Amino acid sequence: MIRPKSIQIDFQHADSKEDLAPEDQILFSKAIAAFGNAYAPYSNYRVGSAVLYADGHIVTGCNQENMAYPSGLCAERVALFAGASLYPDSEIVAIAVAVERSSPNSSISPCGACRQVMIEFESKQKKPIRVISGASQGAVDVYSSVKQLLPMSFYDENLEGN
Ligand code: THU
Repeated sequence: MIRPKSIQIDFQHADSKEDLAPEDQILFSKAIAAFGNAYAPYSNYRVGSAVLYADGHIVTGCNQENMAYPSGLCAERVALFAGASLYPDSEIVAIAVAVERSSPNSSISPCGACRQVMIEFESKQKKPIRVISGASQGAVDVYSSVKQLLPMSFYDENLEGN
């Protein structure tokens, strides 16, 4: 038998960063500050990220591009990998992603590769990671877990038994 199925994705949509909860606002402002160091001469699309750990550390990152295009890296992965290198055993509470741009209505979300990396961190720590993602001047979305951003994902359970 074949039948239709659907998935619901739950998230919160804030019209602007000022509408975020205070702790989300602080982390999002760190992500905004982080895109100041972006190296994005090819896309001119500057992205910043800030990762908050349970012990209070915050690690930031920004996109780093390269003339050989695939050699660059997104802001989220710069921050997540730097954080994992510095604090390998720390639990991640939240990640904020901010794009330098004005986007009043539409949402700005992390790319698929960054979602895949995020879900592995989430799955490894067995605790949800809050994702706050949006434009520096515009709408910001808040997800209570990476699972909301990447439903039907490929993560460790898929590899179990191999
Ligand atoms: N970028 C990010 O930093 N994060 C994302 O989630 C999507 C895209 C960067 C990569 C590249 O430097 C620029 O934005 C344009 O794609």
